[in-house]
Amino acid sequence: MTDSIIQTTGLTKSFKKTLAVDALDLAIGSGELFGLVGPDGAGKTTTLRLLAGLLSLSEGEATVAGYDLRKESESIKKHIGYMAQQFSLYAELSVLENLQFFAEIYDVPKEKMAERTEKLLQFARLTEFKDRRAAHLSGGMQKKLALACTLIHEPRILLLDEPTTGVDPISRREFWDILTNLHLNGTTIIVSTPYMDEADRCSRVGLIYTGKLVICDSPRQIKAALPGEMVEFLTDEWQKVKTLVAKLPGVLEAQTYGEALHLLVDDGNKRLKQITKALTKSGIKFRGARVAPVRMEEAFISLIQRLEDDES
Ligand SMILES: Nc1ncnc2c1ncn2[C@@H]1O[C@H](COP(=O)(O)OP(=O)(O)OP(=O)(O)O)[C@@H](O)[C@H]1O
Ligand SMILES: [Mg+2]
Repeated sequence: MTDSIIQTTGLTKSFKKTLAVDALDLAIGSGELFGLVGPDGAGKTTTLRLLAGLLSLSEGEATVAGYDLRKESESIKKHIGYMAQQFSLYAELSVLENLQFFAEIYDVPKEKMAERTEKLLQFARLTEFKDRRAAHLSGGMQKKLALACTLIHEPRILLLDEPTTGVDPISRREFWDILTNLHLNGTTIIVSTPYMDEADRCSRVGLIYTGKLVICDSPRQIKAALPGEMVEFLTDEWQKVKTLVAKLPGVLEAQTYGEALHLLVDDGNKRLKQITKALTKSGIKFRGARVAPVRMEEAFISLIQRLEDDES
């Protein structure tokens, strides 16, 4: 990509014995909505903190908005908005006072303050709560306020570290509507998330595993790269089903989601018939047998299972 707004080559960060980020090559285009996913401890936060200029690089090169992370990390800060995984608001300050506080930190000109806080309050749907103390907001509202504070200096690049973790589904959706608007306005967004439905809303997604970028592509391509098709069975006896299908040909993998058992198979229609037959013959009760579309969640679990198998 020639017009990358973020570019890293061999980006590496080690903490004493831990190699948290291991030779990351990343090119993010201007205006992308880029998702960062990976298991706990994979290196997502460290990557975002490096890009925000908050950590020094151990090795490698990186530019953010045209600035060199090694030499100009201070200059980067006014172009980015960074929302930490544990973003701290000032609990005793009101919603409006929090916004004003961050405006001062980021040197927002006094004459622009009123207009901008007004706009952000509306944007985050917090206008009617503007005098409420941050401590008394719901979790979802706190996240929206944190995002609003992150936007106060109108950054071109947003680095958001799990901004919706622990938030209810309705608030998550609202938060993503806000992100989508920012994306449509041309803001470049990198967002880490444990939620696969959120990953699905990104233009591209990078999977980090033990500090390495193991896949980086559009959600559509990531799902298409899964070696096979999914068949789904609803059953209370999924353990029995799992044991049985493990012996059948063409079954590559089994994942359980509540009472739904998702099997990755080489040929959906063919194996659906065979497995249905085998289950009936064994007297295992099931319903809703179907070839199901692959979801992001399955694509990632499958990728991670294969990575773990390779390691052991
Ligand atoms: N300041 C630090 N000192 C020492 N080790 C650290 C430090 N920060 C992170 N690490 C280690 O680096 C690795 C990557 O951590 P990081 O926080 O980047 O992961 P993550 O992908 O954000 O995880 P999570 O999903 O749990 O937030 C972990 O092994 C972590 O323990
Ligand atoms: Mg993290």
